[in-house]
Order: sequence, then C-alpha cells, then structure tokens
Amino acid sequence: MSCSLQRLVRISNVTSFSLCHASRRINPSCTPTILRSQVALMSSFKNTPNVGGPLLDTIIEDHKGIWSYYDEYANSAGDVDAQTRWANQFKWHVARHAIAEELVLYPLMEQHMGEEGKQIAEEDRGIHQRVKEILYELESHAPDSKEHAALLKEAVDILKQHGNHEEQVEFLKLQKALGDEGAAKAAASFERTKLLAPTR
Ligand SMILES: [Fe+2]
Ligand SMILES: [Fe+2]
Repeated sequence: MSCSLQRLVRISNVTSFSLCHASRRINPSCTPTILRSQVALMSSFKNTPNVGGPLLDTIIEDHKGIWSYYDEYANSAGDVDAQTRWANQFKWHVARHAIAEELVLYPLMEQHMGEEGKQIAEEDRGIHQRVKEILYELESHAPDSKEHAALLKEAVDILKQHGNHEEQVEFLKLQKALGDEGAAKAAASFERTKLLAPTR
C-alpha cells in the first residue's frame, strides 16, 4: 500500500489525495494499458441519462466506477498482474470517493437535514471506516489469493448496499434540501475534492 493510502486508511480527516493517473510516482501500478482501460471505462459512463439531478448524477457516476473496477478485478482471475492493477484502481477510487463524501457531502447532510442528517452521517462514517479497515487488511494478502478475493467481495458488498441507500434516500433528500443551485455546487465541490493531490 502506498504511503498516501495508508494515511487515508488510518486517519479519517485526511484533506487531500490524488488520482493515480495524475501521478504515477504515487501509484506506479497505473501503466499506460491500465490508463487506457480506465479512460474507456469512464467514457462509457457518459451515456448515463441525466435523470437524477446534479448531485445524484455525480454520485451515481462515481459509484459506477467503483462497481466496474471490482468487476474488472473479478474477471481477471488467473492474471495476477491484472488483478493487482484493478484491485489498486478499486482501492484508490473508493478512497477518493469516501473522503470526498466525508469532507463535502456528509457535513452538508448534517447542516441541512436536521437530526436525521446527523444520524445518517454518523452511520455512513462508520460504514466507510469498516470498508477502510477491510482495504487495509487486503494488504496482507496476495491479489490472487482466496483471502484477498473474499475481502474485496466483502468490501464491495458493503459498499453496494451503502451506495444504493445513498442514491435512493440520503443524497436524494440532500439534493432536495439544497435545491438545484446548491446541489450543483455540492457536486462540483465533491469532484474538486476527489482531484486534490495527496501530501507525502
Ligand atoms: Fe458513502
Ligand atoms: Fe457513495
């Protein structure tokens, strides 16, 4: 695990981290091949209908990336290099997504959704923490091992249940509470936060 990801797992108030494709010195597993695959994957998401509103659309797109990286990992059985690369992409995407939610969106739920927002934010931070612990535990196992596959499956199962609730309940309510302009600003802030580079 890179120094930046270790810090992310261990410290909940990390304020910045990077896209691996922005800096191969941070994540050297991002080869040109994996970058092309990543671009192709992300490009395929652009056709998603804009039906959810500015905040929901952003979140749904980002969740799709998480599910897709996991699927690529699961479909790479027998190719340990590919498993390693896709597992790394999954971990980095989850890390960026979780931090951006914790820094931008969960505080907005606390501010704009009353007691319900505070309760949801606390529960969500607990779910994120559990996933971070699983991702940390992953580092003890080879990417082609049964243990690694089982842990990654556990992480994605937790995240899918959590992500579905975010999309269908939590961020739907937040979007309504913020209004169109506020939701658009929140979505932009979420994206900016994901793009921040880590400090060493
Ligand atoms: Fe979340
Ligand atoms: Fe999420």
